[in-house]
Amino acid sequence: MIIEQLAVELNVETKAWKALEGSVVYYQGRAIGTLAACDSTVEALNYDQVFVRDFVSSGLIFLIKGRHDLLRNFLEETLKLQPKTKQLDAYKPGRGLMPASFKVVNLNGEERIVADFGEHAIARVTPVDSCLWWLILLHSYVVATKDIELAHKPEFQEGIRLIMELCLATRFDMYPTLLVPDGACMIDRRMGIAGYPLEIQSLFYGALQAARQLLICQDNQDILEAIDNRLPLLRAHIRQHYWIDIKRLNSIYRFQVEEYGETAVNQFNIYADSIPYQQLEKWLPKNGGYLAGNVGPSQLDTRFFSLGNLMAIISGLASDEQSQAIINLIDAKWDDLIGEMPMKICYPPLEGKEYKLVTGCDPKNIPWSYHNGGSWPVLLWMLAAAAVKTGRVDIAKKAIDAAESSLADDEFPEYYDGQTARLIGKQARKYQTWTITGFLLAKEFVKNPENLQLVNFDNLPQEVDSRACEFEL
Ligand code: GLC
Repeated sequence: MIIEQLAVELNVETKAWKALEGSVVYYQGRAIGTLAACDSTVEALNYDQVFVRDFVSSGLIFLIKGRHDLLRNFLEETLKLQPKTKQLDAYKPGRGLMPASFKVVNLNGEERIVADFGEHAIARVTPVDSCLWWLILLHSYVVATKDIELAHKPEFQEGIRLIMELCLATRFDMYPTLLVPDGACMIDRRMGIAGYPLEIQSLFYGALQAARQLLICQDNQDILEAIDNRLPLLRAHIRQHYWIDIKRLNSIYRFQVEEYGETAVNQFNIYADSIPYQQLEKWLPKNGGYLAGNVGPSQLDTRFFSLGNLMAIISGLASDEQSQAIINLIDAKWDDLIGEMPMKICYPPLEGKEYKLVTGCDPKNIPWSYHNGGSWPVLLWMLAAAAVKTGRVDIAKKAIDAAESSLADDEFPEYYDGQTARLIGKQARKYQTWTITGFLLAKEFVKNPENLQLVNFDNLPQEVDSRACEFEL
């Protein structure tokens, strides 16, 4: 029995590696990334491009396997695509942004890289997450290779600084969180996540930490101070205002409203009637909780978003107690959040009138499909990493087992539909690269928990940490 099981595992892994190798993109003879998907049976659209967010799991698995060159080439080439001058033209990407994706084209016998900052993407969405992921990946590269010289090169220092300026310098609001338009991240369609979505805040936290470690002091004192200022505020804000468990639900239920001035307890003027507290009261386990999807003026989006919650655990944005509670919740609500294929991108889905109004009647995002409650195997690596980090390897193994039994037979689909995630996504690409790497990477985190250091930012610098504790009191 055990031998049979081993043979199945080996078979899935062999198929995964073969497919991954086939997705590698070359530019002037150097491997620089991986295609989003290699499915010749459907129109490619932009799935034949290298997406920055999709490449994260490829970059990490190649790093773990010692293929450092691939990640280094990716970081160097994407850096060249980042706009470096102030932009006053409405149709040009802002200074510091990183593209959503890029492709290698052949122009009159010469290879060129063409980037898409959302100007070609469906619905013209802005990829805010790309520059944050880029920084997190650069940090992973330095941790794995100890090649700090790469990050210290003038062009890398400039690139990091420009991302920080974009995030920290000019803004309309005065929250520690980052204000972004709808569809600015993995959910790159209208899904009611405009404002302060958790996914962006978790990545922002990691990116700030990465920048702090990689920027040299000379000429960057202002930015470093701004980072030290922002980090504890961001952490305290998320831990306090995004947190939902039964205790907090009770406070929200009894919130006073229309409070003016500094002493307001209900700072965002959340109306209890906007919270589905009856469903939540039934759904929340005693020892579980999670971070809300979005917090803004009179808005507390109580949907559970997986990427934001898992990255908050991995990066250390969530406190230790909160991390344990999130994992407890995933364990207790396995059928809702995992089902037959890890794991739901968000839960519960938007339904009925809400679905129509919020998504704009998007036929791809009908309830329990795609971004609206569909299941995405790429999330498996984050689930495994978060589970290993919180000492719950059992959860990681159970999730990997669930995926292993069908991923290869189903030809590594992009996503699954349905409440139990047993339907291959209606419009899912097959041989989706981040499905493949998500699975391979999850196994690596279980095999060697040391890999966690590649994506971990647990400790704030000491002087910043002591200030953070003040805010959290
Ligand atoms: C879809 C996903 C997005 C992903 C892209 C390429 O647009 O929503 O997150 O990056 O496909 O796989």
